[in-house]
Amino acid sequence: MRPTTDEIEPGRQETASQGTVTGRFEEWTQGRLVSSLGTNSGAPKLPFQDWRHFKEAFAPELVARAVAESKIPVKRCLDPFGGSGTTALACQFLGVHPITIEVNPFLADLIEAKLSHYDADRLTRDFVDVVRSARRSSVEPAIRFDWLPPTFLEPGVSGRWIFDISVAQRISALLQAIDSLANTLHRRLFRVLLGGILVSVSNVVVNGKGRRYRGGWKSRRCEPETVDKAFSDVVHRAIIDLRSYSDRPWSGFELLRGDSRRLLRLGAPADLAIFSPPYPNSFDYTDIYNVELWALGYLRSSQENTSLRNSTLCSHVQLKREFPAAPQGSSALTSLTEQLRGLRKRLWSPWIPEMIGGYFYDLAGILRSIYKTLTPSGNVWIVVGDSRYSGIQVDTAEILSELALDTGYEVESIEPFRSMRASAQQGGRPELSESVVKLKKPNVAWRRRRGIALNSQTGTNASRRRPAR
Ligand SMILES: C[S@@+](CC[C@H](N)C(=O)[O-])C[C@H]1O[C@@H](n2cnc3c(N)ncnc32)[C@H](O)[C@@H]1O
Repeated sequence: MRPTTDEIEPGRQETASQGTVTGRFEEWTQGRLVSSLGTNSGAPKLPFQDWRHFKEAFAPELVARAVAESKIPVKRCLDPFGGSGTTALACQFLGVHPITIEVNPFLADLIEAKLSHYDADRLTRDFVDVVRSARRSSVEPAIRFDWLPPTFLEPGVSGRWIFDISVAQRISALLQAIDSLANTLHRRLFRVLLGGILVSVSNVVVNGKGRRYRGGWKSRRCEPETVDKAFSDVVHRAIIDLRSYSDRPWSGFELLRGDSRRLLRLGAPADLAIFSPPYPNSFDYTDIYNVELWALGYLRSSQENTSLRNSTLCSHVQLKREFPAAPQGSSALTSLTEQLRGLRKRLWSPWIPEMIGGYFYDLAGILRSIYKTLTPSGNVWIVVGDSRYSGIQVDTAEILSELALDTGYEVESIEPFRSMRASAQQGGRPELSESVVKLKKPNVAWRRRRGIALNSQTGTNASRRRPAR
């Protein structure tokens, strides 16, 4: 449980490791028993993880398990799809150096804000300054959101808008005050924390398929005081977390901002890779974080929006780039794309067969890039989810395993976590499974020295059997 501010003395962080708060992994996760280590499994209730609800985060305990089960010492751990930063943060708690890639600049800032170290007393003083100067500027409100699309601000378009004008004034005043701080780390932290409350003070809700207006939003009108309260609450919680867990066993990190398909080719040596890519369910993360991306100024034109969307994994049909052709190496994928093409007219988008082919093309490239720099005998754990289109199941774990074997990995196991609910178009039945695919890069040199048979084509040993789930 998170201690209250009263339980944490100001300036105590340097003595925390001596007793009150050890900052170790078990304390952070409170030794809890989670029903599933997959996504949406209660991680949002943990310190740091509740700064911004991130439904797709996996449980940090999964990272602890991957590190513990590795046959080689894990000094560096890679996550090419950083999201809310679960892997990187868990690594800091476990004493492992994290390398994380994230394409979405709001999420990249959220990750960096969590991984950085602060002087909590200075942070508190800067927060007090922000609140004071925002109050002063709101006497003469000057909205500076001139880059926002008209749908964002009252009076909006066709009688609908995302932020009431008084709320926008408050957000604008807070942003101005935050941006005038001298300390870059503090600016980044306060901005992402403000970003984390934006949807709650808006007239929309956001879910897997984008955003929609709240029922009765016009009569609900949000007050500027609600913005102040929500912002103060989250800053308060964040300062407690940062103070309580400032003695994480590892303080360093590498955060690469951008497209992991490109960045991984530059090389990211690691002893373990653990990640959860977007699922092939047409869930577009650029849409999901659109309110934050625009309101915080990460996006200032529709071209920037399109360019960010086009840098994401080929997991949705909103992409405005050419879908790459499905990779060779998986008979399950070949048969799936043939079936989907045959049903094209019945699919809710005619581009779904190409999207699925492109999705596995992108993931095959990720697997190849990781293989090149992963330490021999190192593991790759991938949390994946199935999808279904017009009754045809996309067995992501199966296809990925075949592609991994083709790249040279051994497939150690496919461990199912839980069932996910299918989309409403598919009847909403909870039959789509989520699993962790566990791969290993064989130690080819070691095997050669011992004369163990290798598959001449792939460099793996002869067994290409797919493990049972
Ligand atoms: C399922 S989420 C990862 C969740 C993460 N495991 C966690 O616990 O928070 C997938 C992430 O991949 C990111 N992403 C999508 N395409 C990407 C790309 N080409 N390069 C880097 N990140 C990408 C998305 O922005 C999203 O944050």
